[in-house]
Amino acid sequence: MITVVVGLQWGDEGKGKIVDTLISTGWVVRYQGGANAGHTVYKNGTKFVFHQLPSGILNPEIKNGIAAGCVVDPEILIEEIESITQKGINISNRFFIDSRVPLVLKFHKLIDKAIDKKRGIGVTGRGIGPTQADRARRWALRMEDLFLKENDLKDKLNDTVEFYNFILNNYYKEKQEIKIEDILSTLGKFKSYLTEENIIDLSTIIQNAIDNKQKILFESAQGSLLDINFGTYPFVTSSHPISGGIYTGVGLPPQKFDRVIGVMKAYTTRVGSGPFPSRVPEKIESFIVDIGMEYGATTGRKRRCGWLDLELLKKTIRLNGVTEIALTKLDVLSGLNEIKILIEKENEYKYKIFKGWNK
Ligand code: IMP
Ligand code: MG
Repeated sequence: MITVVVGLQWGDEGKGKIVDTLISTGWVVRYQGGANAGHTVYKNGTKFVFHQLPSGILNPEIKNGIAAGCVVDPEILIEEIESITQKGINISNRFFIDSRVPLVLKFHKLIDKAIDKKRGIGVTGRGIGPTQADRARRWALRMEDLFLKENDLKDKLNDTVEFYNFILNNYYKEKQEIKIEDILSTLGKFKSYLTEENIIDLSTIIQNAIDNKQKILFESAQGSLLDINFGTYPFVTSSHPISGGIYTGVGLPPQKFDRVIGVMKAYTTRVGSGPFPSRVPEKIESFIVDIGMEYGATTGRKRRCGWLDLELLKKTIRLNGVTEIALTKLDVLSGLNEIKILIEKENEYKYKIFKGWNK
């Protein structure tokens, strides 16, 4: 059984909770994104926010994978591994990263923020765009490189560090100087948390797991409207959160997914810049932000809130091949006397209005 969980809006639809309730054995595999994501899961009254770890990590019966389409920030992953280990969760033999995953390093985060000061996409500052750019221009440092001899690793990093220092200092006028020793020290620490057993050819392992009829859940981060091709470009993330991203993100031949669960909130939210057609008036937004706790899990930014937008949902449902919908946070709206749903936007915005429904 292959299950896919995708977000149908701009992220933060509640995918983490849905993944957590859906699966009790087998695999949870993240196929794109990095520490820009924020998955909040409550387990026995304790709140967990994961940026890098897949949402199945709290369940000891589940194996968790970070596939090649993702990027990994060693510093954040170390923090998350430490934090869950302290809470008594054991990850040995159940946490794997594809050896092809590019690493997010300090200079990626610095340049991400410097670029955004000029471009105003409203990024999370987690170095996603620059790391994906390094992957595309074929000079990314990948998980497999952690096992190089220190001198070879240094050689591999030299030009990159030189390049980023040059751009940061000369074009963006940032004073910070990246030292290769600092990067090597982060990587050394990271290596002490992982072994060659954790860093594997996840693509083959998942192909085999599918052949052996194991349960697999592919977990998306962000939302379909942030997809780099099909989202609201350029106000998007640098990966493919849509279900099609699984084939190249995990390394699988095209095949039918048994269930594609599209997660959507009963209203719409968006963190960061970009168009947002169905935005609610200020007073209602404050109400929704308060009751729905609509603050970005990664950056703490207040999310913009809007009415449910059916025009956009029709598009993302088709794009993902959604077979089922998981509707979240309907209860947040119960304090409002009137709610609206955007049903058409061809010539003008048309809303269906529901009044006095909560009396
Ligand atoms: P980046 O992914 O940090 O490059 O940010 C690009 C855009 O995607 C910004 O508008 C971010 O706010 C948004 N974004 C990235 N990750 C998430 C997420 O997990 N939830 C909601 N929005 C996100
Ligand atoms: Mg989130």
